[in-house]
Amino acid sequence: MPNITFTSPSMSNDKTVYAVAGHNGTLLSIAEKNKIKIPFDCQDGECGSCVIKVSLLSKDQKMGSALTDKEKEILKEKKLLTDAEIEDAEVRDIAPSHRLACQYIVRDEDIIVTFNGEAGEA
Ligand code: FES
Repeated sequence: MPNITFTSPSMSNDKTVYAVAGHNGTLLSIAEKNKIKIPFDCQDGECGSCVIKVSLLSKDQKMGSALTDKEKEILKEKKLLTDAEIEDAEVRDIAPSHRLACQYIVRDEDIIVTFNGEAGEA
């Protein structure tokens, strides 16, 4: 079961939540269920409001790298994702550092999610 720790200057304390086994919702939906206010707008990978930084707690873990096409486009536009990072994600399962919370499906991995509370900024 993944542990997800949310951290942000907009929160008074970090918060760790345990995603329900078999939960296949987005990271944004997990945050909302736990009253963690990651900024968002479209919820469809088009506006870039929900950009987050994701770090693995264990260096031995591989992270889900299923970037959606919309996610790739928006993150590249924001200069938060390079072609090399896309190749690393798709070929070597090496996680990129930034994701869109509304597109990111959490796998069984322990992660730290950082956001700064401003729409479109991680
Ligand atoms: Fe618009 Fe995620 S809410 S891209």
